[in-house]
Amino acid sequence: MARVIPEMKITVSLIKADVGGLAGHSRVHPQLKDEAKLVLEQAKSQSKIIDYHVTSVGDDLQLIMTHKKGADSKEIHKLAWDTFIKATEMAKKLKLYGAGQDLLKDSFSGNLKGMGPGVAELEFEERKSEPIVAFMMDKTEPGAFNLPMFKIFADPFNTPGLVIDPNMHDGFTFEIWDTIEHKKVFLKTPEETYDILALIGSKNRYVIKRVFPAKSTGMSKEAVAVVSTDILHEIAGKYVGKDDPVAIVRGQAGLPAMGEILEAFTFPHLVSGWMRGSHNGPIMPVSVADATPSRFDGPPRVIGLGFQLAEGKLVGPADLLADKAFDGARQTANIIADYMRRNGPFEPHRLPEPEMEYTTLPSIQKKLKSRMVDL
Ligand code: F6R
Ligand code: MG
Ligand code: MG
Repeated sequence: MARVIPEMKITVSLIKADVGGLAGHSRVHPQLKDEAKLVLEQAKSQSKIIDYHVTSVGDDLQLIMTHKKGADSKEIHKLAWDTFIKATEMAKKLKLYGAGQDLLKDSFSGNLKGMGPGVAELEFEERKSEPIVAFMMDKTEPGAFNLPMFKIFADPFNTPGLVIDPNMHDGFTFEIWDTIEHKKVFLKTPEETYDILALIGSKNRYVIKRVFPAKSTGMSKEAVAVVSTDILHEIAGKYVGKDDPVAIVRGQAGLPAMGEILEAFTFPHLVSGWMRGSHNGPIMPVSVADATPSRFDGPPRVIGLGFQLAEGKLVGPADLLADKAFDGARQTANIIADYMRRNGPFEPHRLPEPEMEYTTLPSIQKKLKSRMVDL
């Protein structure tokens, strides 16, 4: 039965796919973005969506759309799929690298789940003023959002509002997914902080999916943050690309201030996914213009676009991580990148065996089996 979506609810859908890179896996060709804009402009003129913004981080084409059709809408997912197909046609024409690489199925079958693209959607009643940020990462995995999400919504050293804003003082509830056992659990801060950290520190397995305000705040039960959790290697049976996650965060007026949200990105923490999806590296906060990972196919990047919603219209974007105040984080990221690179093929620069996207170890073990003698 079709779900009834209250008229006043707005949905923000952030859907991404890598459908071809220039050159190699470095960035999206401008013509792919032009193709995407053509499709979404037409959908907007037909009132299928309220508004859209097309951008990119590294080799990922990003579609930010607003509409009133709710999360998981077949129509919106098909629109995104068709847009990626159009961009793929152009990528093939230009012989871009990995053209169509994230489109794992031949045809659309109702929902993007399991089809390759990454999806983050928030459905909510637009407040009197509704600031949101769309965060987009390249060359890493969904667990890369664990640390900044925890800092934003649970760390009083990052977010003073947790201590001094009466609306935030009761904390937040985290929805955490176990991506191996396919289970989820809701844990509340500050009471269950240590349990949360015990899980999400294992970022390859446990990922923060959503964050909700504490019930006691009287705010609605709507999520205030969401992260894409599409695990490509589980979907495709083999790892055919990075998950390159995206997230949407709502801010201000009883939620973390924009500055508290962005503060979490001043620390270039280590994430996995650099070079051949098989290395750890620092995540560097950058402007859209600098979202072009070229050194050792990285280091991993994150961009943050701020919008004000006006009846679903996307007012903006503000390229929030372009600010000079993030220069220090970028410099630190470059120093960490140098340090990690000098570790060459050794862990923890190289990922542990089971997490590597590329590995020769099993064949080498097989080849050397007969030469292996007891100690
Ligand atoms: C892709 C990525 C790259 C590739 C690497 C090898 O997102 O992170 O580091 O894994 O460039 O790519 P292939 O095997 O396609 O030459
Ligand atoms: Mg690519
Ligand atoms: Mg990518």
